[in-house]
Amino acid sequence: MDRRTFLSWVGVGTLASSLPVALAACTSEKTDTTAVNPSGSAVPARTDGFTVVGTVKDLDQAGFIQDKNFAAGPLLVTYNPKDKSKLAAVNSTCTHKGCAVDWKKDAKEFVCPCHGSQFKADGSVAKGPANQPLATFTVKTEGNSVLVKSA
Ligand code: FES
Repeated sequence: MDRRTFLSWVGVGTLASSLPVALAACTSEKTDTTAVNPSGSAVPARTDGFTVVGTVKDLDQAGFIQDKNFAAGPLLVTYNPKDKSKLAAVNSTCTHKGCAVDWKKDAKEFVCPCHGSQFKADGSVAKGPANQPLATFTVKTEGNSVLVKSA
């Protein structure tokens, strides 16, 4: 292999290895302005910062709405167990070491599968080792839609 052929193969290899990085950069830029609802379709945030994340029917049937790709972080929405007319929306990232918490409908708490931390529906700590509450989002309903503010 002569020098010219070798350099041309190095150029092709460099281009091929750079392409995924360039595509990832374009993709991450898009997720900053959109959320992905549970059905998987991209839903742009409205001008008021709210995004439709599901329906009241979804919430009634499952007891929660989850959107791991919500623009402002992984999202869990549920009814406030103390007042069913109100909703609670939290970032599902455990404040202890970052595992994803699950909503336990029967216990009416978010529970972390990694080290057992428990959080109330408002995100406050019910049991450690976590000592910081889950981050919360503003949430509301409009008709049959559940909306969460991402900005
Ligand atoms: Fe959740 Fe440790 S990461 S309790």
